Amino acid sequence: MTGGLFITFEGGEGAGKSTQIAWLAEKLRDKRYGVLVTREPGGSAGAEAVRHVLLSGAAEPLGAKAETLLFAAARIDHLDSTIRPALQRGEIVLCDRFADSTRVYQGTTGGIDLRFIKSVEKLALDGTRPDLTLLLDIDPEEGLRRAAARRGEDEVDRFEKEALDVHRRRREAFLAIAAAEPDRCRLIDASRSPEEVENAVTEAVFAALAARASD
Ligand code: TMP
Repeated sequence: MTGGLFITFEGGEGAGKSTQIAWLAEKLRDKRYGVLVTREPGGSAGAEAVRHVLLSGAAEPLGAKAETLLFAAARIDHLDSTIRPALQRGEIVLCDRFADSTRVYQGTTGGIDLRFIKSVEKLALDGTRPDLTLLLDIDPEEGLRRAAARRGEDEVDRFEKEALDVHRRRREAFLAIAAAEPDRCRLIDASRSPEEVENAVTEAVFAALAARASD
């Protein structure tokens, strides 16, 4: 395979993205694909440093606009240092969250104008867009319950601690993106058992690989 395949996973808290990414990576590696697993914010040394600033809440007093720019700064380093080199090596990149999270968290529920978000997105991505986005959709009440169970004694992060109503608005915003960009996005019902979700994820990814191979 040449040119690689860029796949992003999006959704609310507790949708099971990390588990699904780990299982998918294993399955793809078994079939001899080169795979890079990464996440946002983070995925490169510079971006991981910014992740800490963002998720600890240290940047919160600067406001959502500055947070948007910090997410974009992290994304630029992540694309330059990690994502594009892997795609150039022909690998499949599996990324836990990407630009849709900025549209939803900083845009829809952060109060930042979507035109600002989209112009920053254009600058940050500089032409590197996901080939496929899997939206793992789950009712926020169930998602937060799962996230709390997984977290155990660890502290809740800056974004997870917000009110249920905020999480509901995020869910609607992700669903709206998936509806507006059906060529890129696949909606996956993440309320099912992890194995059923895994089957849906596998089907979507192998369909994208088959489409790529016949291009
Ligand atoms: P996670 O590792 O649990 O996905 O945490 C990342 C948090 O950061 C999550 O609450 C969503 C938030 N986030 C944004 O607000 N904007 C973004 O652009 C990204 C990538 C994540």
